Amino acid sequence: MNQDELKALVGQAALQYVKPDTVIGVGTGSTVDKFIDALAASGIKIAGAVSSSVRSTERMRALGIAVLEASEVPALGVYIDGADEIDPQGHMIKGGGAALTREKIVADLAQTFVCIADASKQVPVLGKFPLPVEVIPMAAAQIARRFAELGGQAKLREGVVTDNGGLILDVHGLSITDPVAFERDINQWPGVVCVGVFARNKAQVCLLGTPTGVQQLQF
Ligand code: A5P
Repeated sequence: MNQDELKALVGQAALQYVKPDTVIGVGTGSTVDKFIDALAASGIKIAGAVSSSVRSTERMRALGIAVLEASEVPALGVYIDGADEIDPQGHMIKGGGAALTREKIVADLAQTFVCIADASKQVPVLGKFPLPVEVIPMAAAQIARRFAELGGQAKLREGVVTDNGGLILDVHGLSITDPVAFERDINQWPGVVCVGVFARNKAQVCLLGTPTGVQQLQF
């Protein structure tokens, strides 16, 4: 099975977490695209979805899935999203698609984060994937200097402005051994909108696409 087929497999498997007539949270990325397609084809009628990006909103609306504003929904049972890396405790790096801030907001509304990913995303320690950080433009240079003090090399993602008008720094060379402390510390730097470590909002479940089928991990 190639990577695309593994993504389709876990997108389909995530349907087991979708309860009819409820509102669900929907993330962003090529794996989530497969989930959205599977949901539309499944015939499961949901009350609507809170979306984490313009990209997912457009895809869902085109397939007839109602999209609601986060402010209309006090809580969500489940949030389904991909990841760029996931560690053995369910902490993740996210933001490869630049949607990390809205993803974290929607994840925070949900009781259960179901991560859907192919097996290449599983890592022992977060940090090989360059860490996305959304920043206020005037703070970008200072935040890059601060990451250099931690041994990271921050590169501005050229030509990218987020759905919120922020910039993305991709930080190379980090080894994030304590994701909870790391997320808490970086969140305090002035000008950081969102750090792409999801520790407080980690996954409770991961549906991992492997050549032998879907592995279900619980954290
Ligand atoms: C979007 O900003 C990201 O957090 C995605 O969830 C992540 O990059 C996974 O994307 P793929 O499913 O395309 O690998």
